[in-house]
Amino acid sequence: MQQARSTKPFRQADSGRDYAVRRYRGFFQRLVARREQRLAARLLEHPHPTCNGHIADIPCGYGRFYPLLKGMNLRVSAMDQSQAMVDIYSGNADFCDGDHAEQADVLKPLPATADGASRALCVRLFQHLHHPELRIKALRTLAANQRQIVMTYYDDGSLHYWSKRLLMRLKGKKVRVKMIPRRDFESEVAEAGLRIVKRIKLFPGIHAQTWVLLAPA
Ligand SMILES: C[S@@+](CC[C@H](N)C(=O)[O-])C[C@H]1O[C@@H](n2cnc3c(N)ncnc32)[C@H](O)[C@@H]1O
Repeated sequence: MQQARSTKPFRQADSGRDYAVRRYRGFFQRLVARREQRLAARLLEHPHPTCNGHIADIPCGYGRFYPLLKGMNLRVSAMDQSQAMVDIYSGNADFCDGDHAEQADVLKPLPATADGASRALCVRLFQHLHHPELRIKALRTLAANQRQIVMTYYDDGSLHYWSKRLLMRLKGKKVRVKMIPRRDFESEVAEAGLRIVKRIKLFPGIHAQTWVLLAPA
């Protein structure tokens, strides 16, 4: 099974710069982005006995979480299917020599340079993987080498789910983000050899984004 092309954006060289400037400018988006940083920090602070200080940030996008990861003294391997995003990330003036950024697909094994990471961060990808088979494949890539994973998915039990469906129906369009029933997500996690250590909703009852910390089962 292939990932839909529409969920793999920023394929043109130099695309994504406008997105990086505008995506989180609105009031609500800024609120969401601030809360995401807090939740990422909270889950990354969770004790990890075999942590080697190296994290794989995939998909890395334009580098929203890089300052947080550096603030936690982590060595970063940043990866995205979009070379344009990787270029923005590594072109950041604060990008450190010991870190590296390269193009990679979460549906394939990670490049050797990132393989040793004992943690993975995967934010805002799973709502674009519409089939269980793809999500389980991505979970297996992230979990390889006994990694702990901090990631997000969209849970279907919230106002966000129903309002988005209603809005799209009124516009005569298809809902493009996949909201996953909790039980389905749990069984996909188990199938990938993982367990949920912690789960936190972005804005309980209002927003579908759900953060989880996963560890080997
Ligand atoms: C909404 S952005 C999130 C980026 C970053 N995690 C953040 O929260 O700012 C989604 C990213 O996923 C990337 N992407 C989509 N499919 C991917 C895949 N199969 N492997 C790696 N990256 C992928 C896209 O290129 C895009 O940069």
